[in-house]
Amino acid sequence: EINFFFPKQQTLAVIKPDAMEEHREKILEEIRGSGFSVTQLKETVLSREMAEEFYKEHREKPFFGQLVEFMCRGPCMMLILTKENAVEEWRAMMGPTDPDQAKATCPNSLRARFASNILHNSVHGSSSEQHAEEKISFIFGDICSDAEPTGDGETDT
Ligand code: PPS
Repeated sequence: EINFFFPKQQTLAVIKPDAMEEHREKILEEIRGSGFSVTQLKETVLSREMAEEFYKEHREKPFFGQLVEFMCRGPCMMLILTKENAVEEWRAMMGPTDPDQAKATCPNSLRARFASNILHNSVHGSSSEQHAEEKISFIFGDICSDAEPTGDGETDT
């Protein structure tokens, strides 16, 4: 294959609660159409504790409480995406955090098309390779897999 010599990279992508009902299928289709391999995927409702841990880097920000509340209000789709330069490419595909800025500068990006505002902005992507590794192991290593329910679905911490 042409890409044989380029190392693959992984990133964590999240389809956020605001986009799950109307835009999930379209987003998944575009992810696959852009050459990402979806290495793992699961639908999860984050607990408050998990959302707080997931966004711990933003704990001091004024919007932290809102962000956590929003992220556990309904199911999210968690995906591990694999591709050369996956972290940067997925960030580019998402577009800027604020959809108004996305519409102005990257009208084809996912946030330009699907996000309502800076809080309800449809998708998340790791900001660095190190974050990607950390968040992937947090989400896929520490949360019980939904594949084979073994109890009532609660996670012990
Ligand atoms: S940073 O500091 O550059 O990493 O911050 P940024 O990537 O812009 O934002 C981090 C996440 O916080 C959310 N966000 C907000 N939510 C509500 N209100 C405001 N003003 C706001 N600003 C940023 C934003 O959606 C980012 O979520 P993720 O899931 O990381 O994309």
